[in-house]
Amino acid sequence: MSNYHIKHLEEYYQVYRKSIRNPEAFWEEIAEEHFVWRKRWDNVLSWDFKKPEIKWFEGAKLNITENCLDRHLPTRGDKTAIIFEPNNPKEEALHITYRQLHERVCRMANVLLDHGVKKGDRVCIYLPMIPELSVALLACARIGAIHSVVFAGFSSNALATRINDSDCKVVITADGSFRGSKSIDLKGIVDKALEGCPGVANVLVTKRTGTKIDMLDGRDKWLQPLLDEAYADCVAEIMDAEDPLFILYTSGSTGTPKGMVHTTAGYMVYTAYTFKNVFQYRENDVYWCTADIGWITGHSYIVYGPLANGATTLMFEGVPSYPDYGRFWEVVEKHKVNQFYTAPTAIRALAKENLDFVEKHDLSSLKVLGSVGEPINEEAWHWYNNNVGKKNSPIVDTWWQTETGGIMITPIPYVTPTTPTYATLPFIGIQPALMDENGKEIKGNQVDGRLCIKFPWPSIARTVWGNHDRYRDTYFSAFENMYFTGDGALRDAVGYYRITGRVDDVIIVSGHNLGTAPIEDSINEHPAVAESAIVGFPHDVKGNALYGYVILKETGESRDRENLRKEINQQITEHVGPIAKLDKIQFVSGLPKTRSGKIMRRILRKIASNDTSNLGDTSTLLNPEVVQEIMDNAL
Ligand code: PRX
Repeated sequence: MSNYHIKHLEEYYQVYRKSIRNPEAFWEEIAEEHFVWRKRWDNVLSWDFKKPEIKWFEGAKLNITENCLDRHLPTRGDKTAIIFEPNNPKEEALHITYRQLHERVCRMANVLLDHGVKKGDRVCIYLPMIPELSVALLACARIGAIHSVVFAGFSSNALATRINDSDCKVVITADGSFRGSKSIDLKGIVDKALEGCPGVANVLVTKRTGTKIDMLDGRDKWLQPLLDEAYADCVAEIMDAEDPLFILYTSGSTGTPKGMVHTTAGYMVYTAYTFKNVFQYRENDVYWCTADIGWITGHSYIVYGPLANGATTLMFEGVPSYPDYGRFWEVVEKHKVNQFYTAPTAIRALAKENLDFVEKHDLSSLKVLGSVGEPINEEAWHWYNNNVGKKNSPIVDTWWQTETGGIMITPIPYVTPTTPTYATLPFIGIQPALMDENGKEIKGNQVDGRLCIKFPWPSIARTVWGNHDRYRDTYFSAFENMYFTGDGALRDAVGYYRITGRVDDVIIVSGHNLGTAPIEDSINEHPAVAESAIVGFPHDVKGNALYGYVILKETGESRDRENLRKEINQQITEHVGPIAKLDKIQFVSGLPKTRSGKIMRRILRKIASNDTSNLGDTSTLLNPEVVQEIMDNAL
């Protein structure tokens, strides 16, 4: 039997060694024993990071939806596959069984076929977090169409760019979406986007908000009547292991977005295997990832990873603050959630609110807490651990990327002892390397460098859609024969990894390499501080100096600013060292963030450098209005 489910630390080390010594044999065993194939592979792996070209399970034939749906029907047909928790808590939650999901996917697949969508065609999905979104992904996969999900918070411009880049022929959307107390006119955004997308033949619209919308004759169709009429079964298209499954655009902080292409077999094997182990999922557990399916986290760990394991996965339509700041915890209590996976930005936002919102709910079902998307600072880690996990649920700080497809560095809960702010150890099969600026690997412990991966893993993205050169240049040209992550990391005395932030955010001050994350951590520990971001700006003597943008908690608002500045620098001196002290500290009411919650440092850097002539496109920000405020008060 393969080691599909790791249960203790010795086993982790033993399986890890096995996966490194002979990766082909290791992944072959996992693939063979835990998935259904129409035809076996001829070759487990061929790779060349120079071209770059990576192929896993070449020659194999399969359909991922047979692995996520059909094979569960005999044993789990009546098990809940998806719990849908609507935006409004007064609206009833839905429990969709594997059998019902299979039927819904087949109907949607038949509707797509009826609209001329064929294997290899691209379908753009622009939907809120409603069941149709998961169904749409799987329906594309059923017929071999390549889905390109665009987060339904992106503007019409961003949507149009993505539709055109991958030449999508059909768009699946909704009339509108609910977000907290607001509703958003999604169809209107699509209509505007499509003014510049001549290649789109059809728009299939699902009804969610009941808002009045325009339907363009011949192009736009309501989905429900088509689904009702469609046949409830659909033969799965037989796919090659390396056929593209989906395209997902990475939020481009520089240049146009990159359409990362993920293929079928390796992605399936790796997301399923990581899901099982990183969340220690057991039959009948209820698992909830709060991400939006518009991001890779949702693709891999709301849809494909959980369903390939026959799990129950919760989809949440709403926001953490509606109807109040206790919503997450209310949902955990209501559905007896066992594994809860969220982002540090959400944790920090909730930690600012009254603890009552957490304490009034029964969270005893929780067994595993997850964090993803950015470094989790120490204060947020402890808040999560103390108040949500009650020190009883291990926190898995999972480091990975859109490009990696699945979780790469992470503790395994109840297996790996955790340390706040450390993503800890590489997952099975992952071979990280820290590199210095001259392209040499830094061996040993208590070192830091640029984080690379030496050897392919099954779910690595295979190319950038339509631009293989960009794929090579971005990921494989900085270090020879390595995948370069763009992140910096340190490896501590016991070999644990801590991600220190994007290398592009590393600031060299007086010749010292400073990561933004540890400095921000120490600022955030100040009792008056809610959140902070630091950037570099040019300095005559030091090369770069540090500029801090700090959001105060309500309790800090009345404090004397000069005293606060001194205290913050004192705090940094204590936590990181005097070299990391800030030259300038500006108090702000918000930080410019992308829709996925990432701070747009590019903008902050420009303001700090007094170079605001060309701030670039700020329209896709979550909160474009703070930019003017920050500029007006810049130091
Ligand atoms: O800088 C790392 C950060 O997020 C980047 C990847 O972003 P994206 O492709 O949007 O995918 C996010 C969800 C997987 C990484 O290069 N990042 C992600 N997870 C962590 C993290 N930084 C620190 N700790 C993490 N756990």
